[in-house]
Amino acid sequence: MTARPVLPLIAVLNGPNLNMLGMRQPEVYGSATIDDVEALCAETAEQLGLAIDFRQTNGEGELISWVQECRGRASGIIINPAGYTHTSVALMDALLATDLRVIEVHLSNIHRREEFRHHSYVSRAAVGVICGLGMQGYALALRAMAELIEEGP
Ligand code: DQA
Repeated sequence: MTARPVLPLIAVLNGPNLNMLGMRQPEVYGSATIDDVEALCAETAEQLGLAIDFRQTNGEGELISWVQECRGRASGIIINPAGYTHTSVALMDALLATDLRVIEVHLSNIHRREEFRHHSYVSRAAVGVICGLGMQGYALALRAMAELIEEGP
């Protein structure tokens, strides 16, 4: 029997209120639920030969702990930090400390929205940002991550 290759692991981390997708401001975030987003990520990752660890939390500390756990374990981080995008120096610091590639994703186009959403602390730690494309942004981020991994460290 041939051994199955170990697939690169990508952490797909989601911040506060994203568990409310589908019910929460559908005119802004659409009708897809967090389970739909996870299913799209799982399907896309399988096509790309990646493994994913998909999680959502409302807690800033928990999100930071998950980011810290990625060091030495994951090959990259895709993160929708939700409200913490615009407030959390601590989350930015944690992402910078992982030394991993980070792609920031937002369902909505944060630049079309209120002024306070235009600034992202997390972007300082990200190789790229995708926003405004709904849940397809996660699939695009996984594709970009697969290419970055292919390119090497
Ligand atoms: C969001 C945009 C943030 O400004 C907001 O706080 C969210 C969701 C998005 O996916 O569009 O909770 O990250």
